[in-house]
Amino acid sequence: MAQLIDGKAVSAAVKAEVAEETAKLRDEKGLKVGLAVVIVGNDPASRVYVNNKKKACEAVGFQSYEYALDETTTQEQLLDLVNVLNRDDRVNGILVQLPLPKHIDEKAVINAISPDKDVDAFHPINVGKIMIGEYSFLPCTPAGVMRLIESTGTDITGKQCVVIGRSNIVGKPQAMLLLQKNGTVTICHSKTKNLKEICLGADILVVAIGRANFVTGDMIKEGAVVIDVGMNRLENGKLCGDVEFESAEKKASFITPVPGGVGPMTIAMLMKNTLTAAKQQAGIE
Ligand code: GUN
Repeated sequence: MAQLIDGKAVSAAVKAEVAEETAKLRDEKGLKVGLAVVIVGNDPASRVYVNNKKKACEAVGFQSYEYALDETTTQEQLLDLVNVLNRDDRVNGILVQLPLPKHIDEKAVINAISPDKDVDAFHPINVGKIMIGEYSFLPCTPAGVMRLIESTGTDITGKQCVVIGRSNIVGKPQAMLLLQKNGTVTICHSKTKNLKEICLGADILVVAIGRANFVTGDMIKEGAVVIDVGMNRLENGKLCGDVEFESAEKKASFITPVPGGVGPMTIAMLMKNTLTAAKQQAGIE
């Protein structure tokens, strides 16, 4: 039976580290840390995420600046706001919550954020740095996954790592971070043939495909570390991951629950990136 990886506890430890360093920066250098969070429209899931990000800012001692814009906001208006925030010295990090309404080009907005304030690490400059292993900002969810794997005491070097999902936000950067830690990495996706066979070879399996209960116990190698990035809402209103937990926990050595696994880590790593941004902008790091 697998041991549970407690994302709430690991994320609390990351936030405590950030809070301690933030207090030290304030006391010793008079430096404040600020995050601007921009939300456009009324998507309920985005609202929950943004509220959680604001709460996390308070908990670690950051200033948070929320910009809640109407659904009808034009791309030009949003780009104008991003440019104002790029120049605002109180703002160390800028986060534009995705998805944006359909009439706005997400790529144009991401490209407009100053790479120095791009705490999501979505800007092509930061994505490129992740490719070459020279990052200022780690992508939040993949970095959170790495921290969870680390918490199990697993050494990634030489291990077979399988990532299911190839999104720009999770799958692709996840593969790069595992590779950076000397994993042997395979990326699978919805069109992969012989998926079960590939998964059965995985010592470390990260699932981010966005389909409820997609990976079942019979696809998991005995003793594997299984990280479930999925967050799906079933018809009965219950949350579930991309991994069928009941069958998977019988095979894995460690497994993340949903909720309470990867979810809390994303916000903790966002806090860490915002602190890094503040330090870099102050010439400290
Ligand atoms: N929407 C879902 N996840 C994320 C994230 O990590 N960052 C932003 N900006 N939007 C999101």
